[in-house]
Amino acid sequence: MSGIRIGIVTVSDRASRGEYEDLGGPAIQAWFQDVVASPWQAIVRLIPDEQDAIEATLRELCDDKGCCLVVTTGGTGPALRDVTPEATRAVLDKELEGFGEQMRRASLAFVPTAILSRQTAGVRGRSLILNLPGKPKAIGECLEAVMAAVPYCIDLVGGPRMETRPERVVAFRPKA
Ligand code: MTE
Repeated sequence: MSGIRIGIVTVSDRASRGEYEDLGGPAIQAWFQDVVASPWQAIVRLIPDEQDAIEATLRELCDDKGCCLVVTTGGTGPALRDVTPEATRAVLDKELEGFGEQMRRASLAFVPTAILSRQTAGVRGRSLILNLPGKPKAIGECLEAVMAAVPYCIDLVGGPRMETRPERVVAFRPKA
């Protein structure tokens, strides 16, 4: 599949029932519009905090829609209904723990409750899946902390070459 597709998944019981507006999905889309220089297309989903639905959506976006990057928002905390990391791990081929570690580390500069997020990341086939917390302000705080490594990760799993706007994020690709 040619072209860059980015899957954006809002995981929220209340937003999926229409009880409040989904602010996270649009915030992720706006962040990538600002940072990704290559032509790309967003594929968005809004689903409840149900593990089966999250797994099915991640599989669909990676395997059927060919997204090289799938970003989730919400469901990473300790509450009973928070199962996004479990659903993510269930579909990953390889977990990349460093993403969660780095996002939590960077987030602690903003909020002490950053340690409550169990956000993780990893690869499934040719796709990188990345969890973000549900608060819209967490989206930029977390993506800024890891984006430099995202294009090279996608290179390594055989995905399309993603260029970033260097004034926003300089993608790090170690020399061969
Ligand atoms: N990380 C950043 N960067 N900024 C934030 O405001 N909120 C925290 C944490 N991580 C936050 C953050 C809070 S209050 C919680 S409960 C956890 O993420 C989990 O959020 P989630 O269940 O909505 O994913």
